[in-house]
Amino acid sequence: MKILVTGGCGFIGSNFILQSLSRDSSLSIVNLDKLTAVGNRENLKDIEDDQRYLFIEGDIADPVVVKRAIDGCSNVVHFAAESHVDRSILDPREFYRTNVEGTLVLLEEAKRSGVERFVHVSTDEVYGSLGKDGSFTEETPIAPNSPYAASKAASDLLVRSYFETYGFPAITTRCCNNYGPYQFPEKLIPLMIIRSLEDAALPVYGDGSNVRDWIHVEDHCDALRCLLERGVPGEVYNIGARSEKANLEIVNALLENLGKPKSLIRFVEDRPGHDWRYSVDPSKIERVLGWKPTFTLERGLKETVSWYVSNRDWWEAIRRRPSWKEFFDSWYGERLGDN
Ligand SMILES: NC(=O)c1ccc[n+]([C@@H]2O[C@H](COP(=O)([O-])OP(=O)(O)OC[C@H]3O[C@@H](n4cnc5c(N)ncnc54)[C@H](O)[C@@H]3O)[C@@H](O)[C@H]2O)c1
Repeated sequence: MKILVTGGCGFIGSNFILQSLSRDSSLSIVNLDKLTAVGNRENLKDIEDDQRYLFIEGDIADPVVVKRAIDGCSNVVHFAAESHVDRSILDPREFYRTNVEGTLVLLEEAKRSGVERFVHVSTDEVYGSLGKDGSFTEETPIAPNSPYAASKAASDLLVRSYFETYGFPAITTRCCNNYGPYQFPEKLIPLMIIRSLEDAALPVYGDGSNVRDWIHVEDHCDALRCLLERGVPGEVYNIGARSEKANLEIVNALLENLGKPKSLIRFVEDRPGHDWRYSVDPSKIERVLGWKPTFTLERGLKETVSWYVSNRDWWEAIRRRPSWKEFFDSWYGERLGDN
């Protein structure tokens, strides 16, 4: 099988490519990635010379490059996106361009080329925010609150329309928050690990009570492979590991793993429109496909901390990028009183 993976130089995409090639010797993968501020070819340096892997630098919103990348591929796994809520608050336009217009170009080219299956990787954030009780099911109405979530919800609706209108074989997945190796250090878990390792203040939004539902990236990638093989076109599948934690609990667990003091925590001005709680009900994929996560949060966090401790060169290179400094200073600098 030959798959087109979009956004394969990002966090989840690179884990998916590394894992999939190591598990299936008959698989080949074309990776189409624009290498935005967070895209990182380094993640895939170990497979650059693998005959089964081809990297194409390009934009999913460019039909010419998408056509070149998709021809000969029987399946698509679509990760490429602008993915960071904070960045979407600073500049929503790029989120609309990639997540909505880019997905439309990709759908059109995938329809033209006649792919067998198209897995659209979306997010639980399209459902909006929960109070203390309940979980998102696939029937929960979408109610996105951030520009990021709104752009993903719009792309989900486009995917749905391609199934309903053209019988296009698309599956939409809505996963909770991922963590694990190769996550760009602006997201909560790697940011807290890296800042702790530098004994720097840890910016925690509000009072740290916002709740997220966590899954190890390897479990997410397993679920995607399962859906690629056996998911039903036209269906939406939630993916989650039933691991809800308040942000402060996560930060405390990381500090404990690292042997660092809680005094590093600094409560900062909250993110505008910050969703209070996410909780994903994964019963459907568990029941229908027999998929189950394998990581406990405890084990996953421990291994993730070890990965960042052992891969200092990887994240130090990212921290030297001007785009990183520009984002961190403009977003957290003032909140931390560093400006
Ligand atoms: N990270 C999470 O916790 C999470 C949870 C649920 C769903 N998702 C979804 O999973 C997908 C991957 O998330 P991630 O965390 O790996 O994101 P990421 O930001 O780490 O990676 C995104 C990748 O897409 C590439 N990209 C961006 N715009 C592009 C364009 N126009 N053309 C081609 N490539 C482009 C980037 O260069 C980058 O390599 C996203 O669609 C996201 O919405 C993420």
